[in-house]
Amino acid sequence: MSDHFTSRDGQLFIEGAAAADIAHSFGTPTYVYSASAIEESYRAFSNAFAGADITICYAVKANSNLGVLSLLAGLGSGFDIVSVGELERVIRAGGDPAKVVFSGVGKQDGEIVTALEHGVGCFNAESASEIERIERNAARLGVSAPVSIRINPDVDAKTHPYISTGLKENKFGISIEDAFEVYERAQESEHLEIKGVDVHIGSQITTLAPFAETVTRVGEFVDELDRRGIALEHIDLGGGIGVRYQDEELVDIEEYASTVMQILSGRKHQLMFEPGRWLVANAGVLLCRVITLKENEGKHFAVVDAGMNDLIRPSLYDAWQGIEKAGPTRGDTQEYDIVGPICETGDFLGKGRELALAEGDLLVVRSAGAYGFVMSSNYNSRGRAAEVMVKGDQVQCVRDRETIEDQLRLEHLFSL
Ligand code: LLP
Repeated sequence: MSDHFTSRDGQLFIEGAAAADIAHSFGTPTYVYSASAIEESYRAFSNAFAGADITICYAVKANSNLGVLSLLAGLGSGFDIVSVGELERVIRAGGDPAKVVFSGVGKQDGEIVTALEHGVGCFNAESASEIERIERNAARLGVSAPVSIRINPDVDAKTHPYISTGLKENKFGISIEDAFEVYERAQESEHLEIKGVDVHIGSQITTLAPFAETVTRVGEFVDELDRRGIALEHIDLGGGIGVRYQDEELVDIEEYASTVMQILSGRKHQLMFEPGRWLVANAGVLLCRVITLKENEGKHFAVVDAGMNDLIRPSLYDAWQGIEKAGPTRGDTQEYDIVGPICETGDFLGKGRELALAEGDLLVVRSAGAYGFVMSSNYNSRGRAAEVMVKGDQVQCVRDRETIEDQLRLEHLFSL
């Protein structure tokens, strides 16, 4: 995949736009996304399965900005959602509800009704109780709800425990043993229409083996269902393919695709995927500026204007993301902890980074297109960052920087 983030004469460019110009126009911290990088990864995913009947349902949770969603909708993407809020975003972005799968362990009655009214393509049910809830709501509306059941294949995705979802002890899905009965009951309901099966074993998975094991188990499960007279239209293999943050060995997308197709060969199901990170992580960066340099007991800190409220992955998962200067390097390098302005020791973007820094320097945090802005908060009453999208040398704001008025709009003085 070509890199849309290049350095020319020491200046970082996002496609044809200079990071320094973007920072000048929009301020910092600002998330910047490359539209071409997203388009390219979408096409690479889709091309890897050339000839097969697949639907990509982009996992909205990874980056739900309307600019990103409308770009993907324009490419024909479907969407994997986990709330009615995400459904609303998809619809506003021009996405097709019929190409939406509704995942998540805690769908509420109101959300199920709204999703049914909009005609979502499939509910990915996570428990026997949830499928009954979907059935009750469909019955009330006098419709039949399209459903899939998420099975928990008990496979170790070998990723960070917080983002591992396919083990028996995790809260997700229904065990293969219990799933047969749930399908058999669903088959008898006039308000449920069985569409498929789905699975998702975790995120940032960097080896093929857990995927292969999962697909094998799903394939055997689907065959057994077939023997029991339950025929499925689709198999949804979820998301989870890892990306390079540092120097990780990765799952090659072509190899992933050929492995999946080989394991499932001979079966005629439509294949669905829910990639999030893989499509957007390396299409985005976070620009921030050095406020202060300081030294404590021989340790050097660069305090920047982005903190854990803007990008929580380093604090929450101890995740490593590249941090570089967006402008030319002058002077000697020093080992810095790059920290935010928030009053917590856990507020850091990176530790022990060799950089030559001066106050006022513009920095870029790489691989911030997924689980970046979406996980941001107003902690310390900080307004959330601006988001901009670049295509060629064109730059478009896709979310304004939040003001204090935006933050206070929903609050009230206590006056009783
Ligand atoms: N489908 C389901 C049902 C999911 O739960 C997820 C992610 C995805 C698809 C997309 O997975 P992806 O392709 O992006 O790996 N905040 C964490 C990641 C949480 C992932 C949650 N589920 C992080 O920053 O690493």
